[in-house]
Amino acid sequence: MSEQFYSDARSYDRLFPGGDQAVDFYRAEADRQGGCVLELGCGTGHKLIPIASDGHPCMGLELSPDMLAEARRKADERGVEVEWAQGDMREFDLGRTFDLVFIAANSLLHLHEAEDVVNCFRSVRKHLAPGARLVFDVFNPSVHLLAQADGVRRRRDALSFVHPDHGLVHVDVAETYDAAAQVTRGRWYFSTDSEADFVVAPLEMRSIFPQELPLLLSLGGLRVVERFGDWSRAPFTADAALQLCVCEPD
Ligand SMILES: C[S@@+](CC[C@H](N)C(=O)[O-])C[C@H]1O[C@@H](n2cnc3c(N)ncnc32)[C@H](O)[C@@H]1O
Repeated sequence: MSEQFYSDARSYDRLFPGGDQAVDFYRAEADRQGGCVLELGCGTGHKLIPIASDGHPCMGLELSPDMLAEARRKADERGVEVEWAQGDMREFDLGRTFDLVFIAANSLLHLHEAEDVVNCFRSVRKHLAPGARLVFDVFNPSVHLLAQADGVRRRRDALSFVHPDHGLVHVDVAETYDAAAQVTRGRWYFSTDSEADFVVAPLEMRSIFPQELPLLLSLGGLRVVERFGDWSRAPFTADAALQLCVCEPD
């Protein structure tokens, strides 16, 4: 449902620049584990390319061919070797194991059905070498923010960006929250001063609530060994922005 959103990788990288703390966190996790690294939903390689440049053998699995093409281009430009594969994290078999598997930047929340999340964890479990870990970050659902998803289209000035072909792009977002599905259904509009709505793309993200998360992991044969609330590794609390989880086989 969110495929169109990821079909212009150059917009994606300009829409969400930064994230340096997240890159540092995943780099440190790769160093702590040592060995081979697999990222699921690797996008344009924002975290994986720096990790590969640190000397870890890396593989990225990604659904979107456009994101993958941009990841490959960026890695080649930087002279960094990464193995890229197009595939679906809901179920995959790469025929080998890794010392760290990670899923960054809410990518896991693109799996809306509980069954898909569990199947993903089961696939991860099969790809963990002895002593390996799964690390991922998803947001901590805020009922306050979810309640604000009223379907009204609003300008997000902080997200404006300069596109190489279109120039200055304004971003509007309208979101509703489907409480039964636990999915926020967004519609993103990109406009320039001369071209209104040249992109209109849905973006849908599930919420995983804190009590639900260990149960989904457990059905996939995994357990949480550490849950942080931010990139500085502060403990997870009710007000934390993130659920940053380090998991091991059960
Ligand atoms: C929010 S982006 C994060 C990209 C990257 N991990 C980062 O940190 O910049 C989510 C990514 O997950 C990918 N994705 C969504 N569903 C997927 C699936 N079922 N299997 C593999 N990748 C998926 C999207 O195409 C997108 O590139």
